[in-house]
Amino acid sequence: MKLLNLALQAMQNAYVPYSNFRVGVAIKSSRNKYYFGCNVENSAYPQSLCAESGAISSMIAGGCTSISEVLIVSQSENLIVPCGGCRQKLLEFSHAETTVLLANLEGVCKVYNFEELLPFSFHKGYLLE
Ligand code: THU
Repeated sequence: MKLLNLALQAMQNAYVPYSNFRVGVAIKSSRNKYYFGCNVENSAYPQSLCAESGAISSMIAGGCTSISEVLIVSQSENLIVPCGGCRQKLLEFSHAETTVLLANLEGVCKVYNFEELLPFSFHKGYLLE
């Protein structure tokens, strides 16, 4: 699966000297283009970046603003979920059909949408009226 392979490749390049916890994220945009990111830590810990941030940044730099699918994988046998801040960041570029795929090294295990992952959320609809 292309999204999983891209996320796994990105995950291998994660810069994680402090947590040693690698995360990879791949996005398929609504224009069927692919983007990916990994977590990038910093000796000043709060300056670290989650993998989702990198993937979103790459998508925006590539000229896309709408996510069709986003896949998140880590080295852990257990599935991980995007942190709260990353849910909000991903929501900005998501829509009702956007799917969030949670994978482990073997493949995709769970599929969610944003209504499930971030119910009762603050979104741009509040600002653009
Ligand atoms: N991490 C992510 O990259 N994405 C998430 O959604 C959760 C956490 C990273 C941040 C840090 O580098 C490491 O995982 C441990 O928290």
